[in-house]
Amino acid sequence: MKIALFYFSGTGNTELTVKKWKSSAEQFGVQLDLFKIEKDEFDFSKITEYDKIGFGYPIHAFNAPENVWRYAKKFPKLDKPMNIFIVMVSGEYMSINHSSGKKLLRILKRRNYFLESDYHYIMPYNMIFRHTEARALRMFVTMNELVPINVEDYLVNGKPHLTKKHHLVGWFIWLLRIEQWFSGVNGKIYRVNKKKCIKCMKCINNCPTNNIEFINGKFKFHNRCLCCVRCSFNCPTDAFSIGLLNNWRVNKPYAFKPLDIKEKDRHPRYCKRSYIRYYKEADLVISNYKKTHTNQAS
Ligand SMILES: Cc1cc2nc3c(=O)[nH]c(=O)nc-3n(C[C@H](O)[C@H](O)[C@H](O)COP(=O)(O)O)c2cc1C
Ligand code: SF4
Ligand code: SF4
Repeated sequence: MKIALFYFSGTGNTELTVKKWKSSAEQFGVQLDLFKIEKDEFDFSKITEYDKIGFGYPIHAFNAPENVWRYAKKFPKLDKPMNIFIVMVSGEYMSINHSSGKKLLRILKRRNYFLESDYHYIMPYNMIFRHTEARALRMFVTMNELVPINVEDYLVNGKPHLTKKHHLVGWFIWLLRIEQWFSGVNGKIYRVNKKKCIKCMKCINNCPTNNIEFINGKFKFHNRCLCCVRCSFNCPTDAFSIGLLNNWRVNKPYAFKPLDIKEKDRHPRYCKRSYIRYYKEADLVISNYKKTHTNQAS
């Protein structure tokens, strides 16, 4: 079994998740090759060498980011149908997010690739507000426990999984694709605070679309922004502001380890029911798996 998993990650959460897919697959003797969409390093004539292909992306405004479905347009039309899977990563467990791949899947279907299985993992927000480190760690641990089970079920035991989708949300998701137009416009009004900036050039060097330039001592912004927030999130001095979304800016990567700090959870009620549902479903999957494996061992 040979799998290719194409992914985009703005601030690392999707990357952590697909890397866990890779290491889990390899534990079961399945070869899983990861390809970063933004680097475009894939030779599409080799696509039929793979048994299945997957796509991993962070959910942006209930959709897959624009560069993900644009990339899908490069896939060749196949003579024989191929099964695909998607790995969605988002900040909240709303069922509307399960339909985020709609446009991507439509593009792929025309080329003879069909959705067989999909997975949705919750990882901390890189936008809107900063989750506490404790909540981020809980999300990270849950993802790390779920992925090997999902990989074993799907890639080893051949049992696909499909998230529940509400077909009526299609038009709403389509409407929210306006975010992709807005990102380009908003990306032009990003600013850097000169007093805080240490000219490390991280924001420029890491931007997936070369949206930022530094010319004659000044930052220049183009209209190619994807709103992945990698620039502002990773700025070491929090000097980067993201236009009309600046009040939702989250700065600094999460630690994803236990920290000896006291933090106030400023948003304890936000999407509370959806998080409870996510952990309830995840904990059930994990405990059932552990029970079955303990029974098998004894
Ligand atoms: C522009 C933007 C829009 C987002 N929209 C959603 C959303 O609609 N639903 C959601 O649950 N999370 C949303 N998020 C949160 C991200 O999906 C989440 O933080 C994810 O873990 C980021 O993954 P990454 O680090 O791979 O980029 C959004 C983030 C950004 C930057
Ligand atoms: S990442 Fe921040 S500190 Fe570094 S150049 Fe960009 S704005 Fe300046
Ligand atoms: S400018 Fe920032 S948010 Fe926009 S694509 Fe580049 S790194 Fe992502």
